Amino acid sequence: MKLLEATTENINSAVQVLKDGGLVAFPTETVYGIGANGFDPIAVAKIFEVKKRPAFNPLILHISSIEMLDKIAEYSNSKIKFLIDKFWPGPLTLILPKKEIVPYIVTSGLETVAVRMPNNKVALELISKLGKPIAAPSANSFSRLSPTKAEHVVNQLGENIDIILDGGNCQVGVESTIIEILEDKQLILRPGGIPTEEIEKAIGKLSGSENVINPNSPGQLQIHYAPKIPIKFYSESELEANKNKKIGVIFFNESKFENHFDVIKILSKTGDLREAASKLFAFLHELENLNLDLILVEPVEKSNLGIAIMDRLTKAVNKYL
Ligand code: TXA
Ligand code: MG
Repeated sequence: MKLLEATTENINSAVQVLKDGGLVAFPTETVYGIGANGFDPIAVAKIFEVKKRPAFNPLILHISSIEMLDKIAEYSNSKIKFLIDKFWPGPLTLILPKKEIVPYIVTSGLETVAVRMPNNKVALELISKLGKPIAAPSANSFSRLSPTKAEHVVNQLGENIDIILDGGNCQVGVESTIIEILEDKQLILRPGGIPTEEIEKAIGKLSGSENVINPNSPGQLQIHYAPKIPIKFYSESELEANKNKKIGVIFFNESKFENHFDVIKILSKTGDLREAASKLFAFLHELENLNLDLILVEPVEKSNLGIAIMDRLTKAVNKYL
């Protein structure tokens, strides 16, 4: 870990770390974020590993320009355009339909992506020099308070981050406000740096959501992706019970009983949980669109990122019990 003052030279080093698939903690106007190249699924998987979350949670993509937004999301709605003009750069996160280029590990399998343009020079320079959006959650470890100084990041997550850019204190000090505008309603998913009333002045009344989250209690958001077709944990008895069905299977590191399946996917040939996490959601999406009757997925060891993988799979399997 290197704690570096956010000079141009050090920002350049941080850009190189991101290009090489590493993690950089950086200041925004709200709180410090722990960032990875948003287009690099394995680098994004590292974020979950380092935060030690027991579950996946979709991440915000941080952008530095509207051209970057065009690449990653749809935003034809006039109210969304109005909010962008009025509040960006700033502590407003918008939930938008994602484009294909956004890896599913960023959105935890959802078809929407959270996006914001931070109002912080260091963050904007880092993103624009990388030329790609930076995926970043707040740089606290699971269930601890959000970091508003570089030293908070050092204390909570220091040893696992390649570079921590010190850009001084965060001005806003609370996370961004999260808004989702749908055809029939406009939701505030998380209160934050821009007061609700200011947003309501701009676009009218907001409704709360059943998914409301408290910025200080992460992981409360109950939106989860599950595949459209039944999914079960792989076992030989399950295989026997579903003999005549069209089955797609996801194995952890090596395939078994190959002639029983229509499609076989392997999460990581080397048994690397980070690689497995980076592919999980993409595989589920691929399989759910193949006209199969059933997905069987092999359980992985419940350590490290395996805990989050098994959390996600168990929720999906439970849906079809
Ligand atoms: O101010 C902030 O927003 C900070 C700085 C670093 O930008 N970031 C931050 O990220 O607070 P994080 O990951 O701690 O919180 C993002 C929240 C999560 O609770 C997540 O569930 C929600 O945004 N979120 C992300 N993608 C979503 C989506 N597609 N639909 C609904 N909620 C989403
Ligand atoms: Mg957070």
